[in-house]
Amino acid sequence: MTTARAHANIALVKYWGKRDEKLFLPTNGSLSMTLDGLYTTTTVELAERDELVLNGETQGPEALGKVTRLLDLVRAMAGSKAGARVTSINQVPTAAGLASSASAFAALAGAASKAYGLALDDVALSRLARQGSGSASRSIFGGFVEWRRGERADGLDSHGVPVVPQSHWDVRMLVTVLETAPKSVSSRVGMRRTMDTSPYYPGWIASAAADLVEAREAVLARDLAGLGAVMESSALKMHASMLAARPPFTYLQPASLAVIQAVWAWRAEGLAGFVTMDAGPNVKVLCAATDAEELAARLGALPGVEEVLVCGPGPGLSYEVS
Ligand code: PMV
Repeated sequence: MTTARAHANIALVKYWGKRDEKLFLPTNGSLSMTLDGLYTTTTVELAERDELVLNGETQGPEALGKVTRLLDLVRAMAGSKAGARVTSINQVPTAAGLASSASAFAALAGAASKAYGLALDDVALSRLARQGSGSASRSIFGGFVEWRRGERADGLDSHGVPVVPQSHWDVRMLVTVLETAPKSVSSRVGMRRTMDTSPYYPGWIASAAADLVEAREAVLARDLAGLGAVMESSALKMHASMLAARPPFTYLQPASLAVIQAVWAWRAEGLAGFVTMDAGPNVKVLCAATDAEELAARLGALPGVEEVLVCGPGPGLSYEVS
């Protein structure tokens, strides 16, 4: 029986599109900040057959199927036929409505590989987590993390790499919680549709590699304005490519746009916050630690904002001994 904990991450340069859907290989590299405060704790125990209990509730075939897929990869490596009972707790405030697939599959990769007797290093764990959810490849590591696109068809060179540790930079990511409804278009379907139909997708691909270099340098230099500029550009380009898809779609809600406009207005007055949005309506705001309290209070007072979670850089995968 093994218990692992992995934290959520927010992409500063986004991943949007797979060059290989089966292996979860991305069309472009991405870069993220791992978050303290938001994490998944997962215990894996060998059992007769696979079972998934999430936040105390036994899950049906859809959620279990994704877990079984990852367990099958672990079983193949370990040469085992044993089933596994997976018990998982998401330490994300229930109202948050945040996608937890990154922390969930990173924690599962860690706990399952140990439970089946494998001793994988972090790179191997990142490759494994990637095949549950692409963004999970980054949650194996703490601080700021790059997920390399890789060139190989077998995906061996497509995994997370730590850029700087948690202690490098005292910034905050403010997560505004706007809505709890499940997403209308899954990221898997949304990526596919954008790649297949959006005339803006080639522009996304063409600019992503330069964004990654710019963001990495800004993180190394602790340059908030520099990182903020490329981060906003990456996020809005991704959302623009979805708007141009056929049929078009967007994850942004009226309240999301209200938050974006407010952050830009405050920035013009000298309070520096920078926005990013993923496959859901919540807006995340990057800022200096010293501005977090003021910005969180202002964000919390906007109409449609239910809650604001204040997160600093978080740690990588860890294990609990039982
Ligand atoms: O790997 P997924 O299905 O969680 O897709 C993540 C996609 C975005 O969150 C929109 C961007 C990213 O890089 O995390």
